[in-house]
Amino acid sequence: MSQEMDGFKNTSALRKNIAVLVSGNGSNLNALINAVNTGKIVNANIALVISNKKSANALNIARDAKIPTFYVARDLFNSDEEYDLFLLNKLNEYSTDLVLLAGYLRIITPIFLKAFENRILNIHPSLLPDFGGKGMYGMKVHQAVLNSKSVKSGCTVHLVTEKIDGGHILAQSSVSIMPDDSAEILAAKVLEEEHKLYPLAVNNFISTIMLNNNR
Ligand code: GAR
Repeated sequence: MSQEMDGFKNTSALRKNIAVLVSGNGSNLNALINAVNTGKIVNANIALVISNKKSANALNIARDAKIPTFYVARDLFNSDEEYDLFLLNKLNEYSTDLVLLAGYLRIITPIFLKAFENRILNIHPSLLPDFGGKGMYGMKVHQAVLNSKSVKSGCTVHLVTEKIDGGHILAQSSVSIMPDDSAEILAAKVLEEEHKLYPLAVNNFISTIMLNNNR
């Protein structure tokens, strides 16, 4: 039977399996789970969550949401490539269509990038291309923004490519910086925007790019 017979789309057949990769607190993961549960992200399901850190609170958030979780230590493998090959096997096991990095603090190797070309998204806590690149993550980003005397910052959702934080920008949202903002205050403001922007960008990506390309 055609998926679009009588103009009716068989949405279960179109449902995309999302894998979320995490390393830390998991507030973006939480926002993504809520967005799927409340229909802000449609035609998708969070199929699994993988962490490279055993203590990541994100794992607790996933377990509470009854999502399969995997903690995979890099130390168990001889190289980054072997580590990523293991992750790729897990992603295939869960028929993953889309990979979301949500505070995942590892560099994705070319073998992984090739397997999921144009299907890996990341959220970064600055207005890229500013304050991105190697070593720019978490509070380091916010401190660098404050040091630069910028009057605004924000967050960016982008495609992940070999160039760190350099892939095509899908969405951005900005916040104002007040003269006495600390890095912690700025981080909290930006994080609030991240929780709105990431689900919006993911839903948009799935509905406009993935489903139209039938990927
Ligand atoms: C978020 O601010 C995210 O943008 C940032 O780590 C934090 C994770 O928070 N990611 C990076 O800096 C990647 N370069 P969370 O674990 O609460 O979602």
